[in-house]
Amino acid sequence: MRKIFVIGIGVGDPDQMTIQAIKALNQVDVFFIPDKGSEKAALRDLRTGICRRFIENTCYRMIDVDIPQRAAGGDYLAGVDEWHGRLAAIYSRLFEQELADDEIGGILVWGDPAIYDSTLRIIERVRAKGLALEIEVIPGISSIQVLAARHRIALNEIGESVLLTTGRKLADGFPSGAGSVVVLLDGAQAFAGLSEPDLEIFWGAYLGTEDEILLSGKLADVGEEIKTVRRDAREKHGWIMDTYLLRKAGPS
Ligand SMILES: C[S@@+](CC[C@H](N)C(=O)[O-])C[C@H]1O[C@@H](n2cnc3c(N)ncnc32)[C@H](O)[C@@H]1O
Repeated sequence: MRKIFVIGIGVGDPDQMTIQAIKALNQVDVFFIPDKGSEKAALRDLRTGICRRFIENTCYRMIDVDIPQRAAGGDYLAGVDEWHGRLAAIYSRLFEQELADDEIGGILVWGDPAIYDSTLRIIERVRAKGLALEIEVIPGISSIQVLAARHRIALNEIGESVLLTTGRKLADGFPSGAGSVVVLLDGAQAFAGLSEPDLEIFWGAYLGTEDEILLSGKLADVGEEIKTVRRDAREKHGWIMDTYLLRKAGPS
């Protein structure tokens, strides 16, 4: 049966590769490398660089996967579902064409495959279409862990909860009763629309790369600076990935 390794590769620093991930890389016959156009070219280069650096044999093959754009507008969940369906069809065809029945495929997932990444959902859809696949998931270092490490903070306050969410959700307001809130996928700086006076923010962009930027402080004091720094960095690099933690400032 064909096997697929879904391998978490960290978020930009090849030193974040775990030994388990490196062992898995070295078993892969065919890598399926998503190609999302120029915006993500830098991330694609990081993926192929990881292969060159950590794989000892040279007999693996690389297949580009053209990732279609998600249709804009309309119902968000329906749009994502339709997009995942198209992606499942693409992966299904590529696995059948490019992977012999006894071979191992590899998909390198940014950060950890379990955190705001749909690779596992898409592969389940491939299996649901009838293609027999064995799946093994290798956890990776997530942007969330790197954010906490760089700011030298624990994600949770003592005995409190941590909520992972998106900029899209935060736009509805700071979640009531939440302890610490970690926000990913925020292209619209939803933090700037929050009215709570006593929030602290720990923000990081390009975490784990040589372009890393960190800012932190009371949201009221540093919010505008983060917006400016973010805009300038995005202009300079042509892309940005940033994440942040918000919580009410307290005695600890
Ligand atoms: C599709 S999610 C993938 C998350 C990933 N699976 C993880 O474990 O970090 C992409 C979001 O992760 C965050 N992210 C990923 N890499 C990052 C990095 N190097 N620096 C800052 N944020 C990052 C950003 O919020 C970005 O919008």
